Amino acid sequence: MKPSTRLSKMQESPIRKLVPIAEKAKKSGKKIYHLNIGQPDIETPAAFLEAIKSFDQKTIAYSFSQGEPSLIRAMIGYYEKHGIHFAENELLVTNGGSEALLFSIIATTDPGDEILVPEPFYTNYNGFSLPVGVTVKPITTSPMDGFRLPDLATLESYLTPKTKTVLLSNPGNPTGVVYTSDEVKRIAELAIKHDLFIIADEVYREFVYDGFEYTSFASVPEIEDRLLLVDSISKRFSACGARIGLVASKNHDIISGILKLCMSRLCVPTLEQIGAEALYSVPQTYFDTVNTEYRARRDIVYEALNQIDGVVCEKPRGAFYVVAKLPVDDAEKFAIWLLEDYENNGESVMFAPAAGFYATPGLGVDEVRIAYILNQDSLKRAMAILDAALKVYPGRKK
Ligand SMILES: Cc1ncc(COP(=O)(O)O)c(C=O)c1O
Repeated sequence: MKPSTRLSKMQESPIRKLVPIAEKAKKSGKKIYHLNIGQPDIETPAAFLEAIKSFDQKTIAYSFSQGEPSLIRAMIGYYEKHGIHFAENELLVTNGGSEALLFSIIATTDPGDEILVPEPFYTNYNGFSLPVGVTVKPITTSPMDGFRLPDLATLESYLTPKTKTVLLSNPGNPTGVVYTSDEVKRIAELAIKHDLFIIADEVYREFVYDGFEYTSFASVPEIEDRLLLVDSISKRFSACGARIGLVASKNHDIISGILKLCMSRLCVPTLEQIGAEALYSVPQTYFDTVNTEYRARRDIVYEALNQIDGVVCEKPRGAFYVVAKLPVDDAEKFAIWLLEDYENNGESVMFAPAAGFYATPGLGVDEVRIAYILNQDSLKRAMAILDAALKVYPGRKK
């Protein structure tokens, strides 16, 4: 018996597919610096576990399909602080931002439809679209101009009668791009003019550096009826394993439609919601400290990459990733070689090959995504390993 064609068409996540090779390398005694995945090493605020420890019910019962009301109120309170207003019936708690993305794609498209996504993009946008019969149409952006969005006319050239939705992450994974308010307004104009939904994935909104002003899509009133805001506690509070996210929209048909999906999957874990609610009361100093740390990490990686002969990259303004073009034949082969064949004093480094972040065949073949999620000393060491490895890699381009 063969599995479905839609499954066979799916690619493996470039972030995770080399994990078995890395595990083998580690079993053989090699230390691997994992820069392939956006799993921060920052401690989850203690409030999360404290809240769970004080849970005093004898049964862990199902929660509401839309999420625990007190968590929903905490999430709404968070947005209020950012000048964004949602009512309690405009926000649904989901199993991570991942489920919010899948549900938002289902809610705004039918099989055969297309969604516009600036590329390179978070690879799972493809992973969520393809199985539900939706095609990602990439708007190619380039490190040469800071991954900026093209003008309105160029954006319009990507539209077809099947285009229903624009999906974008801001700040961006994998590019670290943070869209200017002009770019946000341009996407809004495109959506209004051509009657499209916008799915704004803002899971990295705290990770913006150098005082750059952040514009949320939720701050543009003209698009409130067509906006689905996706968010998550994974990165914001370094609580990736808790699997708590949300989708919010002022379009009540969208929310009641997604609620039907929420009902079919019953609920989000009860205990994790209790922990998540407590996270929303951490003080601003938590975000300031984390932001300062990530900016320092970004600087270490960016400066080190710039010192390496033949490497090209754009300074990321947000999130915690950088896409680097390497002087290699094929970044995936290089990443495998680093794990299987290379070591530097018993250590090596793991990256995500970037081709899987593009939908256009052939793009990103010599690029990697580097997640700067380790402490500063580990990042310095990982960059030194990359530098040394590139000098001896057999597939190095002249
Ligand atoms: C841009 C973006 N959106 C959504 C997610 C999903 O996050 P989660 O499901 O952990 O909330 C990620 C995870 O890396 C991401 O990078």
